[in-house]
Amino acid sequence: MISSEPTFRPLDGASFGVEMTFDDGTSATALDTFIAAADEIRARFKTAGGLMVVKGLTALEKAPERFVQISETFGSEVENYHETPTATRFRHNTIPQVLILSNLPPCNHPPPPCPEPRLTDSGGLVVQFPQQQNWHTDQSFRRPPPDITLLYGVTTPPRDQGQTLYADCTAAYAALDRKTRARIQGLQGIHVAGWTGRTPDDVRQGVTPLDLPPHQAPQRHPLVRFHPDSGKPALYVCEERQMDFVAGPIEGLGAGPDGEGATLLRALLRHATRPEFTYVHEWSPGDLVIGDNRCLLHAATWYDAERHARLMWRTTVMGNPGEEYSGDTKSWIPPAGFEPTHGMEKA
Ligand SMILES: [Fe+2]
Repeated sequence: MISSEPTFRPLDGASFGVEMTFDDGTSATALDTFIAAADEIRARFKTAGGLMVVKGLTALEKAPERFVQISETFGSEVENYHETPTATRFRHNTIPQVLILSNLPPCNHPPPPCPEPRLTDSGGLVVQFPQQQNWHTDQSFRRPPPDITLLYGVTTPPRDQGQTLYADCTAAYAALDRKTRARIQGLQGIHVAGWTGRTPDDVRQGVTPLDLPPHQAPQRHPLVRFHPDSGKPALYVCEERQMDFVAGPIEGLGAGPDGEGATLLRALLRHATRPEFTYVHEWSPGDLVIGDNRCLLHAATWYDAERHARLMWRTTVMGNPGEEYSGDTKSWIPPAGFEPTHGMEKA
């Protein structure tokens, strides 16, 4: 018997997104209900532009395997991080589909730097690039890139730190002027993992980029992606540490950190992260945030890692990247003779 139907309401403080709550998120019944109501929940997620916040689902902390089951309702494949180029310190002890993001050992994943200033004159959090850095879409260094990321807060810093920011890139694209839309039509961004020696700082400092095997090579994606469900165009770009400033960041435009491509990329990021397109998630333990990488950007913010612990679980769902990727084989599968994590000692 399934009870405790979820309730939905628009997300506070955002022009997109939906909030879902259960009568009792501490009970395993809420997890049963989540799976039983998956069709409606997924429909609400799509209608809301690909962002859903589930509050108070603390029952999930005791059942990481149910996190995988919930993730499976959002797509055909949930990533197994033991089989992909994922550094071992991010692995969950027992569930290979769960990625750990934490400042605690053995993960030791630090927060991003604190921007200066951190707050606006009116006391709000600075969200817009370039003051706020770290804006990205997950794993854009792969083709096809993943569809959806589910992020669950197990241990979270105080509510005014360690937020996750989301930006609605469908609305941002729709608000572009006609000239910019025409300019970016057909252009491709060149994406690559940040540890490969291709960031603006790496290039400026004369770092020799790593010689990458094929499964870690930079990948091209259109600056404008059409969502496979809605058909709507959305900007698809990443901040500087996840794009290739040796060959790019934008194919066919002047390369390097001060080239024409970099100037365009920064202008698009500045536009897409304007406050009216963004949502700031203040975490509480038990929150689950589901974000569509095909049409959103997101960013983690600074927290005081000396004083506070942060432990997040993440799953990544893939399988419906859109027509652009039809016929692609997974770029991250290593060729014979290479381990998935080959060369990732610095990752
Ligand atoms: Fe991310």
